[in-house]
Amino acid sequence: MTSFNLLLLPGDGIGTEIMAEVKRVIDWFGARGVASFEYEHDLVGGSAYDAHGKAVSEATMAKALAADAVIFGAVGGPKWDGVPYDVRPEAALLRLRKDLALFANLRPAICYPALAEASSLKRELVEGLDILIVRELTGGVYFGEPKEIVTLENGQKRAVDTQLYTSPEIERIARVAFELARTRGKRVASAEKRNVMKSGVLWNQIVTRIGKEEYADVALEHVLADNCAMQLVRRPKQYDVIVTDNLFGDILSDVAAMLTGSLGMLPSASLGAPDAATGRRKALYEPVHGSAPDIAGKGIANPIAMIASFGMALRYSFGLVAEADLLDRAIAGVLGKGLRTADIAAAGTSPCSTSQMGDAIIAELD
Ligand code: NAI
Ligand code: MG
Repeated sequence: MTSFNLLLLPGDGIGTEIMAEVKRVIDWFGARGVASFEYEHDLVGGSAYDAHGKAVSEATMAKALAADAVIFGAVGGPKWDGVPYDVRPEAALLRLRKDLALFANLRPAICYPALAEASSLKRELVEGLDILIVRELTGGVYFGEPKEIVTLENGQKRAVDTQLYTSPEIERIARVAFELARTRGKRVASAEKRNVMKSGVLWNQIVTRIGKEEYADVALEHVLADNCAMQLVRRPKQYDVIVTDNLFGDILSDVAAMLTGSLGMLPSASLGAPDAATGRRKALYEPVHGSAPDIAGKGIANPIAMIASFGMALRYSFGLVAEADLLDRAIAGVLGKGLRTADIAAAGTSPCSTSQMGDAIIAELD
């Protein structure tokens, strides 16, 4: 039986509450004998800062580098608002992304039929929606140099950010998108701004070439990023996989998120390059939401984003696609039966707790 080694980093706030529920799901799959999951816990974020003055310790980084997947809760909270920038809780996530070289951020936007009313769009536009946004995560304008604010001789100031992509960076994110499209609807939409940006021209050329030479079985369309934002709100179901850069991906994935309802429902994966010898990728799975200090400690957080993030690990790190589908069906089943945590409950109905949602998902899996 294949054995996978997980590092669980619950973090702060509701991170620990939702991690408790995902552990039960991991144990359920382990007990079913599909694979053996070994895991250990560690501190990250504010709780790590309190323990040893750093948001992530070197020992934790070593474990993360050795793990088959990192399952990450959420970090931060008002308690750490005053701590210096480079050791603040959020620095842990940036360090993990950088050291694990997690260049591909996957954000599915799936609209569960039972939650179509929670969308900001009309039911018919979103019911059955299943798109995957593949965002480049380690390059582009958030990291390109020069990046500075300078004072000019005349006293005015000038701020510079640099949108910078090399061909290998574009090639590898394009391949991730095409590979994923092969496992889904076999369509990729590549979003850039080739009309006004050189990086968009190069992006377009490289994605076109990779598509033609390596993925002729996948349909490729190019869309200008601003039009893509409009189309996501107008007719989102036209898309299967959208591949885009770091900046546009940040915005487009937030637009897509709101098509599906609550933050408490949205999982994500961040993947590195496949290891030359084993083919395994470094990977980190986490909910899109933060540590939700306003509801932390009350036992009312929605654990679905966290549990669905483990579902993505089953799918993308462990190759357990049938199991990932089973977990997705269990989540849809529980929602279909009307169970709701407070964030997705209709006004006037009585919501369930975090652990009741966990119980129901386990029962549905059974
Ligand atoms: P947030 O995502 O923590 O919360 C926004 C709102 O959504 C809150 O009202 C919260 O109660 C609600 N919410 C979020 N997740 C929920 C869930 N699973 N179930 C039910 N309701 C949920 O974002 P916010 O308030 O801007 O940030 C709070 C802290 O989290 C800050 O310290 C921030 O820096 C940090 N943060 C951490 C992230 C991470 O660890 N990846 C991502 C975003 C924020
Ligand atoms: Mg964002």
